[in-house]
Amino acid sequence: MYTQLEQRGSPRPPVNMGTLQKMKAEGEKIAWLTAYDASFAMLVDMAGVDVVLVGDSLGMVIQGHETTVPVTMDDMVYHSRAVARGLGRPFLVADMPFMSYATRDQALANAVRLMQEGGAKMVKLESGTGQLGIVEFLAAHDIPVCAHIGLRPQSVHKVGGFRVQGRDADAAERMKREALDLQNSGADIVLLECVPAGLGAEITQTLEVPVIGIGAGPDVDGQVLVLYDILDLTPGRKPRFTKNFMEGAASPLAALEAYVKAVKDRSYPAPEHCF
Ligand code: KIV
Repeated sequence: MYTQLEQRGSPRPPVNMGTLQKMKAEGEKIAWLTAYDASFAMLVDMAGVDVVLVGDSLGMVIQGHETTVPVTMDDMVYHSRAVARGLGRPFLVADMPFMSYATRDQALANAVRLMQEGGAKMVKLESGTGQLGIVEFLAAHDIPVCAHIGLRPQSVHKVGGFRVQGRDADAAERMKREALDLQNSGADIVLLECVPAGLGAEITQTLEVPVIGIGAGPDVDGQVLVLYDILDLTPGRKPRFTKNFMEGAASPLAALEAYVKAVKDRSYPAPEHCF
């Protein structure tokens, strides 16, 4: 009964939470990327990515919205199911969209949808101190949770823009406390977006769970970027932390392989990608 989950004897068994904990313990960097459909999921898998995130960034890069706020649960389930069909080895994480986890019961029902209908193995929610009870409730029901802190794009209208977070000493202290509280409430992974590299390093050293960064410097346990940014598919100005891996690559697959290699050998992120 366990063979399907573990594929014993397979040279590249599917990634699970145990794999990610072991990678943190052994100092092997974890390579994440977003994907939104089955074809790119297959390519990302072939390139050796460890974790695939069906991000609500799909609201911007697929649907053409200016923010992630309009994305619905039905959108997330649709894209997650498509990605799940294309994946073999990587661990699949899916975003809980705006206002899909405002209450405990709503969060549980929607997390169950992402896992049962969308094939996700973990859900990610943008979580501040106000979401500790939700994280605890999901964890108590054995739902694997990734808590996303730092810049939280779903709160863009409240905070007034996409800005680096945790720059001053008080804000940094609050974020360290928040990360620890989320871990203690049952979060299995903490994702840090747009924070100074030093704060990323401190939080990573303090937490037992893996810490994944996007614009959080090199000293976190792994990196995540938006697929369309690194393949240079998104026109216009890009965030400072991203990198165009298509430059000098012979094909999209070669670009994705270069991303995985750069995360693993720590050449990405370089100082120019950090705050
Ligand atoms: O929605 C998304 O793609 C994300 C990543 C950028 C971390 O949350």
